[in-house]
Amino acid sequence: MHSEFVPAHWRYAEAKWAMQAAGRLIGTDRAERRNFVMRNPISGNDYATLRTLIAAYQSILPGEKARTHRHAPHALRVILDAKGAYSVVDGDKHPMETGDIVLTPGWCWHGHGHDGTEQAYWFDGLDVPLTRLLEPMFFEEHPEGFAPVKRVTETSPMRFRFSDTLSKLALAPDSVHFGRTIDIPAPTMPTLTLKVHAWPAGWRNVPYRHAANTIYVVMRGRGRSTIGESAFDWEFGDTLAAPAWSRIEHHAAEETVMFSMSDEQLMRWARYYRLEAV
Ligand SMILES: [Fe+2]
Repeated sequence: MHSEFVPAHWRYAEAKWAMQAAGRLIGTDRAERRNFVMRNPISGNDYATLRTLIAAYQSILPGEKARTHRHAPHALRVILDAKGAYSVVDGDKHPMETGDIVLTPGWCWHGHGHDGTEQAYWFDGLDVPLTRLLEPMFFEEHPEGFAPVKRVTETSPMRFRFSDTLSKLALAPDSVHFGRTIDIPAPTMPTLTLKVHAWPAGWRNVPYRHAANTIYVVMRGRGRSTIGESAFDWEFGDTLAAPAWSRIEHHAAEETVMFSMSDEQLMRWARYYRLEAV
C-alpha cells in the first residue's frame, strides 16, 4: 500500500510566531477558534493532515473565551504553553496547563477560556477527515454562547496531567519500535489511539512501518525522525505526520517525551492493521 499523503513536519516556533501576530489581529469575537491548520502539502487537499486526521495549533489570549460547541468528530488537545487556561467539558471546568492532554469526545459540549496573564497555546488533534468521509458531520453551537460551569475540578477523566504522565512513563513497558509507552485511555473516542512515549537521550528505535496514520507532538526533547524518505529535525512543540505504511525511524538527541495520535485502533477494529520491522 502507499498513502497519497506525504510525511510532513511543522515547527511550533514558527506557528507560535504566527499565532502571536493573529492574536493581535483577530479576536475570538471574529473567529470562533483561532487555528493554525497543518494541511498536508499535496495537491487538492485543503485541510487534512493525514487521511483520517487533522492537526492544528490553537491559541487563546488572557480573558478570551472560545464559545461552547459540540460536534461529531472526536478531539483532543496537547497543551504546549499555558498557565491559567481552562476547558469546560460537559459543564466540568478543569485546568489546561502545560503538558496536559485534554479530551473532548464527539458530541461533548466544550468551550475554553483563559484566566491567566500570558497567551496560551496548544495542539489540537481530531478525526475530522474520517467524519467527512463517512458524512455524519453533526455540529451544534451552545444556545447560551458559553455553557454554564456546573463544577470546578482539578481532576477529570478528560484531563491527563503532565506530572501523572511522567510518573506512569517511568514504570511503562519498553518496545524496540515505540520506546517506553503508555496509553492515554479514551474509551469514548474509538477512532483514535493516543499514546505517550519516553525516549532517553541517544535512543534509536528499530525502524518499522505500520498500517496506521500517525501524528506526533514533541512534549519534551529534541531529535530527528526519518519518515519515508524525509528526515526531520524536531524540537519542543513540533508536529510530525507519518502516513500509514511509511517507514518510521526515530532518534532522540535529548531525553524526549513524545505524544502520538493515530487511527491504529480503528485499523485494528477493521482488521486492517499490521506492523513490520523494515
Ligand atoms: Fe471543537
